Amino acid sequence: MKAGLRVALLGCGRVGTGVVEVLARNRQAIAQRAGMPIQLVGIAELSLDREFSPAVDRSLLTTDTPGLVNRQDVDCVVECIGGLVPSYDLVMSALGQGKSVVTSNKELIAKRGKDLFEAADSKGVDLLFEAAVAGGIPVVQALKESLAGNRVHELWGILNGTTNYVLTRMGERGEPLSAALGEAQRLGYAEPDPKDDVTGTDAAYKLAILASIAFSSRAPVEEIFKEGIERVTPTDLKYASELGYVVKLLAIGRNGEGGGMELRVHPAFVPAEHPIAAVRENYNAVFVRGNAVGDLMFYGQGAGSLPTGSAIVGDLITVARNFRSGARGRVSCTCRENLSVVDIEQVRTRYYVRMAVKDQPGVLGATAMVFGKHEASIASVVQKRSAKDVAEIVWVTHLVQEANMRRALEEIRALPVVQAVESVIRVEEGE
Ligand code: HSE
Repeated sequence: MKAGLRVALLGCGRVGTGVVEVLARNRQAIAQRAGMPIQLVGIAELSLDREFSPAVDRSLLTTDTPGLVNRQDVDCVVECIGGLVPSYDLVMSALGQGKSVVTSNKELIAKRGKDLFEAADSKGVDLLFEAAVAGGIPVVQALKESLAGNRVHELWGILNGTTNYVLTRMGERGEPLSAALGEAQRLGYAEPDPKDDVTGTDAAYKLAILASIAFSSRAPVEEIFKEGIERVTPTDLKYASELGYVVKLLAIGRNGEGGGMELRVHPAFVPAEHPIAAVRENYNAVFVRGNAVGDLMFYGQGAGSLPTGSAIVGDLITVARNFRSGARGRVSCTCRENLSVVDIEQVRTRYYVRMAVKDQPGVLGATAMVFGKHEASIASVVQKRSAKDVAEIVWVTHLVQEANMRRALEEIRALPVVQAVESVIRVEEGE
């Protein structure tokens, strides 16, 4: 038996520190489960002039990242740097040397997964990335292995903790987005620059990864339709609540038989009684519908030092077990197909539309006529006076094709009696 799995850790920020702490906290149990000790032999970190967790052995620190990857006494590289540069080159180099890799890097896997898996396959080594999607929630492994006997036709995810926290505060306290985001930053849930979270980019990377596994197909991240939470207001959240919904930033993947994949990230009204509606604050969840297992939901911490460290250490144990049994590269890339991605204009959903109109006879009827002309059937309508001579109307439609809805809204915006279409949010019923 090998003496141990010798690991090089690249990056000792929040995630890398979590790996060190989990390895230290559960050292014995980890060695038992892995069948060998998991031993950190080096930690690459560029900013050494700062405080480190007491769990970090400073004698392992180096700023020579490529040098650490190249060391002869390294069996496995853990990449916690993030981004494509220099992570892509470092991971490729490790794989090229026949070293297994564990990464938490969603952008890397979402954008360059194909090349990386080819490199891992050609060397027969493991490339594992549980931490790249939904932090501590073990959904990648579940989809790849435990659910491999299913055909998964649909998944919904709350894959971004920052935006879920922000939407929760906006909904429950009536705060505007800027205040809720400021609080998320204060609590360490949001990055100093939360652009990728707020715009849905972070969730789109994670959806690309989950969809590629669930639907056994490449899921190009650049083809995912993406809309962030920038335009959601406390007023919309209040209406959502009145109508029996909550608003979530959803990542949705659907694989219609023969019709390509629907892949989209956008805010959505979700029925208050749907299990995903109960996912509050900075928590993540993934709802999966399999044709054998039925409905499943995974729930937990999607970010943070120890939850992400938990996912990485779980992958390290898998690497060690595979090493021990001579079965490296056992579960490789699961993409077998190149399914097309359905254009958003072809997608059918329901919509919530809020508009300000002149409060005068015939306005409701004129607007409804335009919806009707474009085959948008109205499920409910609420009108409230919001200011003198101006009424706020809230419409909820039945299923309508996006292209039709866009045409209807264009025409409605041009009506002289319509002052503004203030908000358009898709409604997902989860049937
Ligand atoms: N920024 C992400 C989030 C965590 O808010 O969920 C890292 O993927």
